[in-house]
Amino acid sequence: MERIDRISSFIVMDILREAKAIGDVIHMEIGEPDLDPPPSVIEALEKAIKDRKYFYTPSLGIWELREKIAQHYYIKYRVNISPHRVVVTTGTSGAFLVAYSIIMSAGEKIVLPDPSYPCYKNFAHLLDITPIFLPVDESTSYTINVDMLKEYKDYKAIHISSPSNPAGSVYSADTLVSLIRYCDDRGIYFISDEIYHGLAYEQEEHTALEFSDKAIVISGFSKWFCMPGFRIGWMILPEELLQKAEKVIQNVFISAPTLSQYAALGAFDYTYLNRVREIFRKRRDFLYEELRQIFDIPVKPEGAFYIWANIERYSEDAFTFCERLLREAKVAVTPGTDFGSYKTKKFIRFSYTKDKKALEEGLRRLKDYLMK
Ligand SMILES: Cc1ncc(COP(=O)(O)O)c(C=O)c1O
Repeated sequence: MERIDRISSFIVMDILREAKAIGDVIHMEIGEPDLDPPPSVIEALEKAIKDRKYFYTPSLGIWELREKIAQHYYIKYRVNISPHRVVVTTGTSGAFLVAYSIIMSAGEKIVLPDPSYPCYKNFAHLLDITPIFLPVDESTSYTINVDMLKEYKDYKAIHISSPSNPAGSVYSADTLVSLIRYCDDRGIYFISDEIYHGLAYEQEEHTALEFSDKAIVISGFSKWFCMPGFRIGWMILPEELLQKAEKVIQNVFISAPTLSQYAALGAFDYTYLNRVREIFRKRRDFLYEELRQIFDIPVKPEGAFYIWANIERYSEDAFTFCERLLREAKVAVTPGTDFGSYKTKKFIRFSYTKDKKALEEGLRRLKDYLMK
């Protein structure tokens, strides 16, 4: 099969395009915050424009931002990271491409949960890396554990996200530690996508860096910091991978967007960010209580901004369900099939990245549609 044919489209982006063409749609599909970034981001951006920061930066990012990100790990997790190990990237998406390309060669394997964030497998395909899908469901709250990993052989890396997309599950410290030890002992790379950190509602999240310096931690400004369009993220790498990452970034990106790097200097306003978390927590509480009266929701989401709902009592095919819901009720949600193939036809993902009024209207339309 041609490489390009192995890459599937990111269905949620297709739905977004269709929803925008239809108009007057309640958007519960896309995972981008509707809230503004901290005001200090805009101030930093305006200053950068005034200072004419229009040039490329060093490929690993501006030093001030690398320092701020390192400080963030101390403030939030009490972990000491040298700013040298921080690499500023073009979104976490850019970081995935760089990370995969520096640790794996064509034909090597990476373990991914199924369901999980759709683009992981496509980054693998783009680099002729073979994804191995590890099925997860409600029995383990959609998380991987060491017993499950033991069944797989000859893989170079595993990649998880916590809080996770699509189920909003948060890995416990115990599960993280055991997974990381298992990987470290066998020379397997543990890639931890922590982009939803800051949006955990029941317990503090743990960064993989608390447990190992070998973990590859990827995070960014698109979710908690409300800066998705700035296209900026970061990676914390083990020392020995830094030069390799630099080489790839020099060639593929040159550097992350300069204005966004300067704007991100203003992102670490924790008072503002804590308010963001509270807003999403309230929305989660509201939408979860409403949706569980309509659908079976096997796992209460503990983080991110998604609800993973079973639609079996209404339909056997999530894609058709979502298409009809969009066309007939003007509510956009994402079919589970975007996230993998294990039981995903029975699920849809709601996102609560709109205000309560919009969520209420979405629910009204959804209920009317289901009652027809
Ligand atoms: C788990 C996960 N990782 C990464 C991303 C992409 O983030 P970025 O905007 O930093 O490229 C998303 C976006 O939805 C996501 O859900």
